[in-house]
Amino acid sequence: MSSSPLHPAPPAQKLGVIVVAAGSGQRLGYGLPKAQVPLGGRTILEHALQGVIESGVAERICVAVPAGDTALRRICARFSGPVPVSAVDGGASRSESVRLALAALGGDSGSILVHDAARALAPPEVFRRVARALSGGARAVVPAVAVVDTIKTAAPSGPDQQGIAAEKVSGTPDRALLRAVQTPQGFDAATLAEAHRKAAGLEPENITDDAMLLEASGEDVFLVQGSALSLKITTPLDLIVAEALLAGRQPKRIMEG
Ligand code: CTP
Ligand code: MG
Repeated sequence: MSSSPLHPAPPAQKLGVIVVAAGSGQRLGYGLPKAQVPLGGRTILEHALQGVIESGVAERICVAVPAGDTALRRICARFSGPVPVSAVDGGASRSESVRLALAALGGDSGSILVHDAARALAPPEVFRRVARALSGGARAVVPAVAVVDTIKTAAPSGPDQQGIAAEKVSGTPDRALLRAVQTPQGFDAATLAEAHRKAAGLEPENITDDAMLLEASGEDVFLVQGSALSLKITTPLDLIVAEALLAGRQPKRIMEG
């Protein structure tokens, strides 16, 4: 959805923003909930909230935190100001945390962004891109980047091959058609709430983003340009990369987009 002098992008509307920060960060292995892990002198949640607020698109923010947490709740209180930041106990899965935050926001009207605290360095411009597409009439919008790896699908290799390898390749999707999707993902709030109600019976580990729930009900999900800076901090290597990005050691090119 690019703009031109003849078709200027509509002004971004103000939105409710959900930040999911209730995960335990098992793969990071830091011994703290991931949103509380330090990155460049502050916590991952503080970076994430700063990005949301700097974008200027948030009317109110609701953060899903681990049940019983006090440290992340204090951060939310500190960031609360002209844009109110509330906290709610998250659930056992990401999708449950989204559902609980949606209920807390009372979001059956307007539009909502759902953002992973783990994508702590997502640039404010990406929030604005998603918000502009929603203002333009889209009901579901996802930031995405091209995939650099060749992706294979895998299947069990069968009893004959088990001594050699447990899996064999079952296909190679055309890389030109693949996109790696990120957050913030933007939705019409009522449509997102309905999609989550319908998904209540699904296995949570099979719900890896919110957009897939809308795809399942035939909704068009539009793609806008994401950013390399929106990497999901998942493993210790990701934390090193994020630290390096913050320390300004990255090539200038990475910072654009
Ligand atoms: N999340 C959440 N509630 C959960 C699980 C995850 O709010 N029950 C959030 C995380 O805090 C994170 C985002 O969803 O911001 C993406 O999840 P992931 O990167 O998997 O984070 P964790 O679940 O914390 O990490 P891990 O899977 O390694 O334990
Ligand atoms: Mg997880």
